[in-house]
Amino acid sequence: KKHANVIPEGFFWGGAVTSFQTEGAWNEDGKGPSIVDARPVKEGQSDWKTAVDFYHRYKEDIALFKEMGFNAYRTSISWSRIFPDGEGEVNEKGLQFYDDLFDEMLTNGIQPVITLYHFDLPLALAEKYNGFASRKVVDLFERYARTLFKRFGHKVKYWLTFNEQNLVLIKPHHWGAKLDGAENEEAFRYQVAHNAFVAHAKAVKALHELVPDGQMAGMVTYQVTYPNTCKPEDAIANMKAKELLVDFYFDVFVNGEYPAYVSKDLERKGIMPIFEPGDAELLKENIVDYLSISYYQSQTVSADKADGKSLIPGMAPNPNLNTNEWGWAIDPIGLRVCLKDMYARYHLPIFITENGIGVREQLDENNTVKDDYRIEYLSEHIKQMKIAMEEGVDVIGYLTWGATDLISSGGQFEKRYGFVFVNRGETDLRDLKRYKKKSFDWYRRVIATNGEEL
Ligand code: BG6
Repeated sequence: KKHANVIPEGFFWGGAVTSFQTEGAWNEDGKGPSIVDARPVKEGQSDWKTAVDFYHRYKEDIALFKEMGFNAYRTSISWSRIFPDGEGEVNEKGLQFYDDLFDEMLTNGIQPVITLYHFDLPLALAEKYNGFASRKVVDLFERYARTLFKRFGHKVKYWLTFNEQNLVLIKPHHWGAKLDGAENEEAFRYQVAHNAFVAHAKAVKALHELVPDGQMAGMVTYQVTYPNTCKPEDAIANMKAKELLVDFYFDVFVNGEYPAYVSKDLERKGIMPIFEPGDAELLKENIVDYLSISYYQSQTVSADKADGKSLIPGMAPNPNLNTNEWGWAIDPIGLRVCLKDMYARYHLPIFITENGIGVREQLDENNTVKDDYRIEYLSEHIKQMKIAMEEGVDVIGYLTWGATDLISSGGQFEKRYGFVFVNRGETDLRDLKRYKKKSFDWYRRVIATNGEEL
C-alpha cells in the first residue's frame, strides 16, 4: 500500500545564492561598488568581478534549473545596482536587470525568493556613515526596500530581510560597521544589532503595506549546539550560547521585543542600545510571516572552555561527527533538532533556504563530477527534514546552497557547492562553461518525486 507523502504539493525545491557570489558585472550598467568589491583579495583567491557571470548567463542557468525541476530560486538584490551610492538617484538599469531576471524565472515556473541584504552594502554608505552603526543607513535601507516592493511586489512574494541576521553581533562589518574607535565594543555591537532589528521591522512593515500577499521572513544561520557532556554546567552553557546565537533573533522577529535574558544582561552592564521613540512599537507591530534558516553544521558548548571573554563562549568540536575539509561538522540530525525546536517555540512556517556542502572538485574524463558525497549529504538532511515534518513541523521549502558553483563567502572559488560545475579556477576564468555533475540528475529525481526518492 502506498503511504502518503509527508511533503505536500507545492513544496518549494530549488537552490540559493547571492548577487555578488554569482553575478559578476561588478561595475556594469551603473552599479556602484559595494563593501564586498572593496574587500582585499587574498593571495591566490578569486576577486568578485566576474564570479560565474550570472549577470550575462542567467538564461542558460535558469534553463538548467528548470531542467532540474526547481520551483524556487533564492538570490539577493545588489543594493548598489539599484542605488549606486546607497542613496540619491535610483539606477533604472539595475531595476531592469532584476525585472528581466524575475520574468525569466517566472516564465520557467520558478518563484524568486529574494534577500534584501546579503552583506554587500553600497561602499559609499560604509565610508560616509559607518554602515548600520548609523540610523541614517536604516532609513536608506527602508527607502531601498520600498523601491523594490513597489517595483517587484507583483512578481516576488517571498522575501527575506537580512541574510543570517544573527551574525550581526559577531560580524558587524558585514553590516558595513567598523568597530575601530568604539568606546565600548560590546555596546557598539548591540547598537548595530538594534539598528538591524529596526531596519528589519521597517521592511516587514513596508512589505505588508505595499504587497498585501507578500511574505517576509527573518533569517538566521542555525548553528545547532549540544552540551559537550551531560554535566548540568554544560547544559546551562549550551542554553546561554543558543540564546545569543539563535533565540535572541527569532524571539524579536516573532515576539516583537527583546527577550529578558538579553535585556536584563544589557541593563546590568549599562549598555542597552539607544531606542529612538517608536522603536519598541515598531518591533512589536511588525512580525514576520515565516522563518528562514541556513543550516550547515553543529558544535558543542563546554562550560570549562567558556573564558568569559568571547561573545559566544565555550564552543568546542564534537568528537562524534565527521567534518568537511573546512572543519564544518556534518550533522543531518542537527537539522531535525533545530526544526523541532523552532517549531515548538514559534509555530510559524519554516523555509530552509540554505543547506549544502563545499568540496574541491574537478571535471573527470567524461566532463562531469561524480559527487556522491554531495548526494549523501543532501539526502541525509532531507531525510531528517522529513522526519521533523512527520512529527508535525511545518516546513514549506528546501533550497540547497548553490545551484551552479559560485564563489564561497571567504572568496574561494574552489570550495564548490553546485549541481552544475562552472569551468573556472580560482583566478583563471577559463571559459566559464557549465557541466552537470552527478547530483544534477539525483536532485531532478528528488524534485520529480517530491522528495520520495532520495
Ligand atoms: C552562508 C552564507 O553563511 O553560507 C553564504 O549565507 C555562504 O553567503 C554560505 O556562501 C556557505 O559558506 P561558505 O563560506 O562556504 O561560502
